Amino acid sequence: MAPSRAITSTLKTTLRTPTTIQRRCISAYGYEQAKVLVLSNYGEPKDVLRLHGHSISPPTGDLLTIKFLAAPINPADINQIQGVYPTKPTFTTSLSTPDPIAVGGNEGVAEVVSKGGNVKGFERGDWVIMKKQGFGTWRTHAQTTAENLVAIKNKDGLRPEQVGTVSVNPCTAYRMLKDFVDLRPGDWFIQNGANSGVGRAAIQLGKLWGYRSINIVRKRETGHEALVEDLKSLGADVVVTDEDLASKDFRDQLKTLTNGGREPIRLGLNCVGGSLVNNMAKHLSPSSPLVTYGAMSKQPVQLPMGLLIFKNISFQGFWVSRWSDAHPEEKEKCVAEILDLTRRGVFRDIPTERVEWGRGTKEGELVQAVQGTLEGYRSGKGIFVFGDT
Ligand SMILES: NC(=O)c1ccc[n+]([C@@H]2O[C@H](COP(=O)([O-])OP(=O)(O)OC[C@H]3O[C@@H](n4cnc5c(N)ncnc54)[C@H](OP(=O)(O)O)[C@@H]3O)[C@@H](O)[C@H]2O)c1
Repeated sequence: MAPSRAITSTLKTTLRTPTTIQRRCISAYGYEQAKVLVLSNYGEPKDVLRLHGHSISPPTGDLLTIKFLAAPINPADINQIQGVYPTKPTFTTSLSTPDPIAVGGNEGVAEVVSKGGNVKGFERGDWVIMKKQGFGTWRTHAQTTAENLVAIKNKDGLRPEQVGTVSVNPCTAYRMLKDFVDLRPGDWFIQNGANSGVGRAAIQLGKLWGYRSINIVRKRETGHEALVEDLKSLGADVVVTDEDLASKDFRDQLKTLTNGGREPIRLGLNCVGGSLVNNMAKHLSPSSPLVTYGAMSKQPVQLPMGLLIFKNISFQGFWVSRWSDAHPEEKEKCVAEILDLTRRGVFRDIPTERVEWGRGTKEGELVQAVQGTLEGYRSGKGIFVFGDT
């Protein structure tokens, strides 16, 4: 039943501390007015996304009401909106619409604002992340049950942007470095899309574990040197462009870098596709895996048979959603470990383009932020940061 206007009107409460005055908005009788970025059909974000408002009643029983703090815009979210991603968003009429709608976004961090009497293991004020893909995180508030959430046990020293981006990119990099080949300190790996969220995480984790990295990025008209320096400051040993890699003298350069070829390149990571993958694979040591986890260029890979027959290079894939479903406890450990490294300043978070989402934010600003993710050469990942909602 829709709450009356009087009940849902918002009260402003002023909380005083000795040094600051904070304004906090509390909905009357615990009702929350949620704003949600939704789609009812698949298509380009600019064509299908719209902002929808609905009311959330106070939680009872097993229910928790959460308020989002930060939610990134990942490439897979766009593919999901386009209808070309294997995991489909959940279309529902439970958000007070006559026709089914789905909420965009898969990753994020939220705060528990209230809970029903049967909820165990979560308290008001706890930060939570989503257990699985498909939750729909581009929204100010949601109501759900505990099984869909993972509590962040220690949020001290962490910002919402850091916690809201921990579960996809860093965990993907972590698993790919650990699960395909037994890399030893001093071993090399080679990756493309090195300035992506996953790429940056792989550089840093690799450095931490003693591996050396050859990092491929696309040449930028402006800011290229700054990007190279940025990746080196994360721990990248070598940063080259895809054109460098394709050049005739790259093999000689690589020989010099790897001590005459005596230091093996034992793993390749690919999120781009196309002929670039062949140029990477031919530098791998015999019997090494090349792991594909993304396809940003949308170009297929054509494999020279010699790589399979004579060098026994294996081409494999990784999908963090599948891994997380199969290993929920290890996923929690991975998240906790990355957050601990972040807290200690050992793991740097990704550059972001913040999109502030407050009560007055217009639909067009939010939709444009999602659409903009499709453009390359960005300065950072788009992330919704929720303010006074
Ligand atoms: N399989 C999994 O479990 C998994 C998990 C996480 C991510 N992913 C995938 O990994 C990829 C990177 O994700 P992310 O979140 O790390 O990315 P991100 O931080 O949003 O960065 C996007 C990256 O893609 C590059 N890029 C964009 N358009 C490109 C194009 N047309 N050709 C070549 N490169 C292009 C960008 O390079 P420029 O700066 O040069 O534009 C940048 O390096 C995506 O495909 C994503 O779906 C997969």
